[in-house]
Amino acid sequence: MPRSFSSDNAATVHPEVLEYLARVNVGHATAYGYDEWTQRMVGVFQQHFGEDCLPFPVFNGTGANVLAVKATCKPWNSVMCTDVAHLYADECGAPEQIAGVKLVPIVAPQAKLTPELIAPYLRGTGQEHQVQPRLVSITNSTEYGTVYTVAEVHALAEIVHKHGLLLHMDGARISNAVASLGCTFRELTVDAGVDLLSFGGTKNGLLAGEALVFFNLGLIQDFLFIRKQNLQLMSKMRYAAAQFLALLEGDLWHRLASHANAMAQLLYQGVKDIPEITVTQPVQANGVFAILPGHVREAVRNDFFFYDWDAAVGEVRWMCSWDTTAEDVKAFVARLKVLTGAA
Ligand SMILES: Cc1ncc(COP(=O)(O)O)c(C=O)c1O
Repeated sequence: MPRSFSSDNAATVHPEVLEYLARVNVGHATAYGYDEWTQRMVGVFQQHFGEDCLPFPVFNGTGANVLAVKATCKPWNSVMCTDVAHLYADECGAPEQIAGVKLVPIVAPQAKLTPELIAPYLRGTGQEHQVQPRLVSITNSTEYGTVYTVAEVHALAEIVHKHGLLLHMDGARISNAVASLGCTFRELTVDAGVDLLSFGGTKNGLLAGEALVFFNLGLIQDFLFIRKQNLQLMSKMRYAAAQFLALLEGDLWHRLASHANAMAQLLYQGVKDIPEITVTQPVQANGVFAILPGHVREAVRNDFFFYDWDAAVGEVRWMCSWDTTAEDVKAFVARLKVLTGAA
């Protein structure tokens, strides 16, 4: 397969993760998370996020997001998110089907909600005729490769909590956001007022590592039942734990995410001055969004695979990952320059 800028899921698993999997692959361990490795994983999450956090591994990011909704909402509740949120646009209606809630999609520049954007939807509660707002879900880094700062998350949390709602962060790429900002996981989440987080590792070098992390422990009362009933309780939990340990015990999470971010910057620097290419979003994490002529899109796709984002306007999404190399980027940019006549 040619080198791909299609998704950070196209990348391989980092060798240190595979090594850790081999390390726990010895002897018997109690199933369903009652093993020493899972206990150790809880401790490592608590080192990053504070003692009042509890992580629950799940099978995928959609599972983490849907369980976040299910754990916080009743069927008469609504969840606000952007109109490009994975939760709204890419989960096949699972939140509606499984949690039974109404999603309220909000058009937001750079895929970032603001207090002003959500304010109109916080009103009118308490009426039996209306769906009751309960959760605001933001994605960081966003589906557009932009990043909410700590202050922006804090401002959202303030208005959300003032109205008695909760704040969820879809952190499928949270390591990219934290590496980009130069802050800590804790500063961008629990300290900024996030109540629960879908922590993503699969896009940052893991094989299959996602977890729902609670910072508001009052929300976990029924969670063990919710997780099991919704098919997200894995039996051989030590293998999920091993992946998070590989990522979070040392600085692997940061090395991989900052490399992916740097590759996106390199790509941005390479294409930003090509007259036929318009970069459409600020490049703050590991994705570059751009509009380019149809013939260039199709020709370059033969050598480097990637997806259209908005085919109607010729916009594409280029994702970099932990294993994208500077040579990959340079070859890609060179091809784009030849095809656009900028070489
Ligand atoms: C923003 C975001 N959230 C969540 C996910 C998780 O998706 P999956 O269920 O494929 O792990 C993705 C994957 O593309 C994503 O981009």
